[in-house]
Amino acid sequence: MGRLEGKVAIVTGAGSGFGAGISRRFAAEGAKVLVCDINQAGGEATVSSNPDLLSFHKMDVTKSADWKATMDAVLQKFGRCDILVNNAGWSYTNKPTTDVTEEEFERTFDVNVKGVYLGCNAWVQQAMERKEGGVIINIASVGATRPRAGLVWYNASKGAVWNATKGLALEYGPHQIRVNSICPLVTGTGLFSAFTGVEDTPENRQKFVGNVPMGRIGEVDDVVNACVFIASSEASFITGVNLEVDGGRCI
Ligand SMILES: NC(=O)c1ccc[n+]([C@@H]2O[C@H](COP(=O)([O-])OP(=O)(O)OC[C@H]3O[C@@H](n4cnc5c(N)ncnc54)[C@H](O)[C@@H]3O)[C@@H](O)[C@H]2O)c1
Repeated sequence: MGRLEGKVAIVTGAGSGFGAGISRRFAAEGAKVLVCDINQAGGEATVSSNPDLLSFHKMDVTKSADWKATMDAVLQKFGRCDILVNNAGWSYTNKPTTDVTEEEFERTFDVNVKGVYLGCNAWVQQAMERKEGGVIINIASVGATRPRAGLVWYNASKGAVWNATKGLALEYGPHQIRVNSICPLVTGTGLFSAFTGVEDTPENRQKFVGNVPMGRIGEVDDVVNACVFIASSEASFITGVNLEVDGGRCI
């Protein structure tokens, strides 16, 4: 029996990196997952690992009409939705903050903050009506509380997610809806180069381990494991937590 048997999840940004890993593992633990991304090829690749339990839905987290279609799709396909993973994210490439364009600033907040706002608004009503509770997991960042030079507005967008996670947990706790975030350390996903400003190579990964007590950068599975735990009934009394998955970086 899987740890998420019988559950239904939406995972955004599931065509790559953490979202692809979360979707595949949720399915391996018995959940049905609507794999959501603007990137069709990536989303379809994720689904190909387990087409019985994974289903691709193309959508843009910044568009409220897309969220309505996403909820219609998950309810039509799977009949319910227990878990929402707001994982889609974007960043401009690490650079002096005064060089960040207005367009880059807006895209950062549109994807990373407005996407979570729209996602929660679209998902929460059906969860309250079902009266069986539910789980929201937001993928924030260690940068929410430990900002880095050159990523000021990306980190500020994750700070907003960090704060909203606690507010949402407070507001929806009486409905047995748990809201937590995961705060990953830099990891070799599609966003590695944007965060570090260098190519994703084994040598370059080593450059970012100096201030990590456990001596390595993140792995996709570190975040995936934390998401399975938080989504499962093992975490049934855990809400409003921003869980750092960072080998001690934020100490
Ligand atoms: N990789 C890291 O080092 C790291 C560290 C901390 C936090 N994060 C966060 O983890 C999350 C996942 O990122 P990742 O590292 O797996 O990067 P990634 O680039 O591999 O994956 C991000 C996915 O989000 C999708 N996406 C982007 N904009 C979208 C939109 N408007 N609508 C729908 N989908 C959209 C992309 O197509 C992509 O598939 C992000 O929120 C990111 O900020 C990453």
